[in-house]
Amino acid sequence: MKLVLEKTSKLTGNIFVPGDKSISHRSLILGSIARGETRISNFLNSLDCLKTLECMQALGAEVELCKDNSVKIKGKGLYGLQEPKDILDVGNSGTTIRLLAGLLSGQDFYSVLNGDASIRKRPMKRVVEPLRLMGADIWGRKDGQFTPLSVKGNKLNPLHYTLPVASAQVKTALLLAGLYTKGETVIKEPLPARDHTERMLEIMQADIKISPPEIKLMGGKELRGADIFIPGDISSAAYFIAAASILKDSQITIKQAGVNPTRTGIIEMLNKMGAKIDILNYQIKSNEPQADLMIEYSKLKGVEIKKENIPFLIDELPLIAVAATQAQGKTVVSGARELRVKETDRIKAIVSELKKMGADIKEKEDGFIVEGPSKLKGAVCESYNDHRIAMSLAVAALLAEGKTVIKNSECIDISFPGFKKILQNLINF
Ligand code: S3P
Repeated sequence: MKLVLEKTSKLTGNIFVPGDKSISHRSLILGSIARGETRISNFLNSLDCLKTLECMQALGAEVELCKDNSVKIKGKGLYGLQEPKDILDVGNSGTTIRLLAGLLSGQDFYSVLNGDASIRKRPMKRVVEPLRLMGADIWGRKDGQFTPLSVKGNKLNPLHYTLPVASAQVKTALLLAGLYTKGETVIKEPLPARDHTERMLEIMQADIKISPPEIKLMGGKELRGADIFIPGDISSAAYFIAAASILKDSQITIKQAGVNPTRTGIIEMLNKMGAKIDILNYQIKSNEPQADLMIEYSKLKGVEIKKENIPFLIDELPLIAVAATQAQGKTVVSGARELRVKETDRIKAIVSELKKMGADIKEKEDGFIVEGPSKLKGAVCESYNDHRIAMSLAVAALLAEGKTVIKNSECIDISFPGFKKILQNLINF
């Protein structure tokens, strides 16, 4: 499917964005292995999260998705899952495969995980290696580097481990495996990665202690089901935050967006660039901060983004490249090599497509350099089947003279079904 967009003068209106993807995955997994009922409101009904839902059902979990995007789970307890009859298909979802690798390592059965062409190229050793240190019997192509992953559940030992890369997926896989040990697992983070798992484990009454940069989890204790309200996904809100910041006369409000400090790098960096973003009605629900975000157009200037900033806005970096094309001066992103192993090589993808649109952008091994401002022009662009590339290019298209075509835009449904409709509402307000 092609997404065709034209130059737009401004965005105005009030919107909600769908529920947070990271929290949605975690609520399904933790709810399934907790004791008692878990009720989830504002679940993200997107392709990636549906893959986790189907995998949990194939593992015997009783999970029901209702029409209003709420989910009811009758928890099975830590030891209540069953051997799946077939390969578990994670589709395009890196979060699903890495989190389930951790969960399945401690089960009393055999399972196989696989996904689409993008998943089959993504690095798995980062999760396989520490799981093997815990005693997991887990295999994949090239000694565990690539999928399919096959897991023969084992008795696991607790682990003391410093993560070599800041990755919430790896951290969560190890915490899930840690639940199945008799002892304390200690994970040390080089930089703080998103902490949704730790927050949810807290409300599910796990024996967890958080003393940055360490997380300590005592295994063997049953979790308690909980009521979980999922805030709007800040990574989805980001496209409209950036678009309203760079389109003259824009003013929008995004209601009930998640503002967990491990995720708000996009707000901080845009503010540093001169954006006008107000945070209103801040509150904490289900142990996660949320707020309404009011954004107005503002003149932006270039910014330097370094390694220590990356985990806080990892998924928003292609969008930063788009915003930087409209900012005065140089924007330099460094220390972002991880972008090369996402759903696609996001450095290569965003640099090549923004160049087609007339941006002054250069690829670096670990990031990119943008010289702004530049006038963009419409082009026929590839999405590389990557939802974040497709939506970042959609924001660029709103600024570009003429028509922009984004190919294979159906990948947007991986994280943000309804993206086009919300965008159209903001354009036609
Ligand atoms: C995610 C963690 C991040 C992020 C991904 C979602 C999660 O990946 O890029 O979109 O839900 O834990 P890494 O853990 O590989 O950094």
